Amino acid sequence: MKNAIFVLGEAWGAEEAKARTPFVGSSGYELTRMLDEAGISRADCYLSNVLNLHPIGNDIESLCGGKPDGCLGYPALRPAKYLRKEFAPELERLADELVEIDPNLVLALGNTALWALTGKTVISKLRGATTLSTLTASGFKVLPTYHPAAVLRQWDLRPIVVIDFQKALRESAYSDLRRPFREIYIEPDLKDCHDFFEKFLPKTSLLSVDIETSGRRVTCIGFAPSPRYALVIPFVDKRRLGGNYWATRELECEVWGLVKGVLENPHPPKLFQNGLYDISFLFRSYDIRVAGATDDTMLLHHALQPESKKDLGFLGATYADEGAWKQMRAKKTTKKED
Ligand code: URA
Repeated sequence: MKNAIFVLGEAWGAEEAKARTPFVGSSGYELTRMLDEAGISRADCYLSNVLNLHPIGNDIESLCGGKPDGCLGYPALRPAKYLRKEFAPELERLADELVEIDPNLVLALGNTALWALTGKTVISKLRGATTLSTLTASGFKVLPTYHPAAVLRQWDLRPIVVIDFQKALRESAYSDLRRPFREIYIEPDLKDCHDFFEKFLPKTSLLSVDIETSGRRVTCIGFAPSPRYALVIPFVDKRRLGGNYWATRELECEVWGLVKGVLENPHPPKLFQNGLYDISFLFRSYDIRVAGATDDTMLLHHALQPESKKDLGFLGATYADEGAWKQMRAKKTTKKED
């Protein structure tokens, strides 16, 4: 039977080198336990490493050199450290193994696995979101998460890895990347705003609301009556004269009047992410008294996983099927503490 999940680690440790088998030491023990907790049987997975060898002192950097010594076409594996050319055959062996096993999903454990598959390395930013590998001609679906050795060093990563493994189990049922289909209205005029609210508000049982701020000003506000549709109303637009999205003060006041009407109506109930910030900001800066704020993703997640991170990037990677969208933005815009 096909191995739907290909579990990819970094390199052998001492135990693995003795047995010439991946994940038979302490990392492997913890890996098995976490897979089990997520409902995945280790026996159903194919396990391998980027490098079937044991780096001196378990230190991958001992296999690295400067850029001229690095494997052709590969970025740095660690800052300014390139995997040396002599190890390129290991990457070819990995590519052959992937093609032969043809898994639905590759579970990339840690930065080295993520690097070998995609050329990227910041596991803390990319974990939990599926992406496509670039190592072989046809990309395999990859789900990056922390390495079990990192879990053993930093125990609070463990629930995150178990959550990612649960997602891996769901994703392993099919090989393609399935992104949710969304229609997001991003540059509306006043009529678009009216039409959107008229069309969606009567039908929705929960309206998601989120603001972005800069100083004492809301730079934009988003409304999503369902996972499929959203409206983003901007107030700042640096491309326009004066930096304002709306052409006149009167027009902007009219838009705020519309927004105020939606927010001060207890129907539909509203969902925020750290709404305590948004609601108090809207009151202080705009005299808007939000009504019907019944749910909060940050607090709901906190109830489930009190020890884990709670920012939107983390929650999106954990609960949604999007790519790592916080990494898609070319430049940072305004930032709030979610
Ligand atoms: N760490 C790895 O990355 N692979 C193993 O096989 C064992 C420990």
